[in-house]
Amino acid sequence: MFTEPCFSVDHWSLKESPLKLDLLPQSESVFALANGHLGWRGNLDEGEPHGIPGSYLNGLYEAHPLPYPEGGYGYPESGQTAINVTNGKVLRLLVGDEPFDLRYGRLHSHERTLDLRSGLLLRHCEWTSPAGSTVRVHSTRLVSFTQRAIAAVAYEVEAVDAPVRVVVQSELIANEQLPAVSGDPRTAAVLESPLESEENRTMGNRLLLVHSTRMSKLRMATAADHTVDGPAGTRTSSESTADVARLTVTSRLGAGEKLRIEKLVAYGWSGTRSLPAVRDQVEAALAAASSTRWEGLVEEQRDYLQDFWARSDVEVDGDDELQQAVRFALFHVLQAGARAEQRPIPGKGLTGTGYDGHTFWDTETFVLPLLTYTSPGAVVEALRWRQSTLAAARNRARQLGLRGAAFPWRTIDGSECSAYWPAGTAAFHINADIADSVIRYVSATGDEDFARSSGLELLVETARLWMSLGHHDQRGAFHIDGVTGPDEYSAIVNDNTYTNLMAARNLRGAAHAVDRYPDEAADLSVEDEEAAAWRAAAESMHVPYNADLGVHEQHAGSTDRQPWDFAATHPDQYPLMFNFPYFDIYRKQVVKQADLVLAMCTCGECFDAEHKARNFGYYESFTVRDSSLSACCQAVLAAEVGHGHMAYEYAIEAALIDLNDLHMNTRDGLHIASLAGTWMALVGGFGGMRHYEDTLVFAPRLPQELSRLAFHMNIWGRSLRVEITAGYATYLLLTGEPMSMCHHGEVVTLAVGSPTRCPIPDAPAQPSPDRPPNCRPGRGSPRREHRRPV
Ligand code: BGC
Repeated sequence: MFTEPCFSVDHWSLKESPLKLDLLPQSESVFALANGHLGWRGNLDEGEPHGIPGSYLNGLYEAHPLPYPEGGYGYPESGQTAINVTNGKVLRLLVGDEPFDLRYGRLHSHERTLDLRSGLLLRHCEWTSPAGSTVRVHSTRLVSFTQRAIAAVAYEVEAVDAPVRVVVQSELIANEQLPAVSGDPRTAAVLESPLESEENRTMGNRLLLVHSTRMSKLRMATAADHTVDGPAGTRTSSESTADVARLTVTSRLGAGEKLRIEKLVAYGWSGTRSLPAVRDQVEAALAAASSTRWEGLVEEQRDYLQDFWARSDVEVDGDDELQQAVRFALFHVLQAGARAEQRPIPGKGLTGTGYDGHTFWDTETFVLPLLTYTSPGAVVEALRWRQSTLAAARNRARQLGLRGAAFPWRTIDGSECSAYWPAGTAAFHINADIADSVIRYVSATGDEDFARSSGLELLVETARLWMSLGHHDQRGAFHIDGVTGPDEYSAIVNDNTYTNLMAARNLRGAAHAVDRYPDEAADLSVEDEEAAAWRAAAESMHVPYNADLGVHEQHAGSTDRQPWDFAATHPDQYPLMFNFPYFDIYRKQVVKQADLVLAMCTCGECFDAEHKARNFGYYESFTVRDSSLSACCQAVLAAEVGHGHMAYEYAIEAALIDLNDLHMNTRDGLHIASLAGTWMALVGGFGGMRHYEDTLVFAPRLPQELSRLAFHMNIWGRSLRVEITAGYATYLLLTGEPMSMCHHGEVVTLAVGSPTRCPIPDAPAQPSPDRPPNCRPGRGSPRREHRRPV
């Protein structure tokens, strides 16, 4: 765990100096590079020491049986775990006759920097071997956004003050030995030697390994090529065995002389293609990268990011740490989703195998909103991936006796991998979350092609699910019983408000899409009566309400349950799920993560201001934030109802979740949803941005801690910049036709070139709500000291 600031604060980079060996597992996640297809953890170039070695290919997993002491109908039988694939990062270094290993000798300096503008991980160090030879090592690493199969390293060794013989072994290693990871059930099961060798070879400076997974039968290939530049007499040789391909470079460096190796690595995998096809695919990718050369890759990376920042940056004045954290967050969300291309976006991105590398509702609810307004192309890819898994989702629905499609709670390839019903498939809201992403994306972009060819089918099949899950009572109200909402501390409940409101949106959205694309709807066998039934169910959707308290219920009867005894809960008993039996948690009022509060974020139009404030206060007193998905939602609502300081504290917590390792499990990978939630907290919270179909509203208000917030977003073919200071918001249309939006309830028309400055009304005065003891948010929440590492 990071007990003191580990990275220096800079607006555009993250620097660690000196090296903190005991924190390697965490810093490897923070320094991970990825492009959505391929991910490399920030392991040291020499391979050791390491926390957790990690190289990942999105979608590549090993299957394993899911054991049940007591089986049951409909339990998924096979699990999936993302595996550590062939490691192409390693360049082992021998100095004189001793391995360059930072645990020995004398380390004079060591600095690692993640540069958010160039997308490079830079490392500089100076070290004296136990025998007294001093070398400087500089390395630069990238995972290319523009050539998605490619990662690359430029590695340089310099003899400082005396001649020295050096040997660099640049390797591809499959089936690396992995350290045992924690006992947390959510952490990836360690699979030993999951890769079976199919081919290995070398040719000059080129290396190749082809493997396939033993159970899931997925084939992967890795190839590398090198450019070596050293003093006269520098020699190279190569060799390969089943699991290792190696280029060995030997050189005698005079004082001040350098050996430089540029290593390009190409990855590819397939579940269907033949060995020659996959091998040729990576060799072709390598050929393309070789012709671009290292400098070209670096330049492409910078250009790609320049474009990204121009349309996505969030500027914060008043808190440098938050400024750094939000850019770090945006960068990692981009890395998780940029080039996933019809593959899922895992909960940890490609930074670690926490949660077995699975994808959850985190993608649709937290990541896709940000990408919709900044990188909409990535949203199409993510939703088309969902569409590509419809066959599995339809089968799952049939298996459960339901209609339409039941998308999995957690998965890699589209089949359900959750072995626990109450906090698994029962969280049916994921289907409405997917539908919501479709509706938002189509409404933000007007992408008719996607709406017709993909959106419609996703909306129709999820609407069918709701009709078969729910029922009308005698008075006509529509209920959805026996489901789990976002809050995993309540399970199998009736009428979860979030689920019901989102299902209603799903049903309306499907009916609307059917009206718009009648021919395609007919191909899906939708008849007029079916769409009419969807509308009727949406109109009569039940929303449970406690009239005595004047608050909406999280689910029917939730407010009647016995309150959790917080006074008797010791600070070290969080997270509650590891310290109390679920049966007790389930039957009491205690909230793991925003649920009704999330409903007020996503379906804000269904609640008036008075209820929002009252509901927020009520649920605040039961919410313990044992999930990292909570703080950002609480930030949005706290800001809306007028608790600026509280919103700020929640925003900080969401933003620093990994930089400060607040949940003490950053080593297993980053919390991509919470990082994306940082954007929600700033843009949706302090910017008050809400997008409901054809309306865009802002109700900006800064907390006292910030003096300025500015952000960009793309919507309706336009690009917009919003800048907020203490008393005013300025809206500037950067491109596109004039458009209307709302500022604190007033309609404002924007035209390119004419910034519009609007005064910000004072926030309503609100008494601060109570929150459970030991649950204070912030940059180093006090509870962390007591938290059991998970
Ligand atoms: C949360 C879920 C989330 C999952 C993966 C759990 O702790 O309760 O809502 O989807 O983590 O991030």
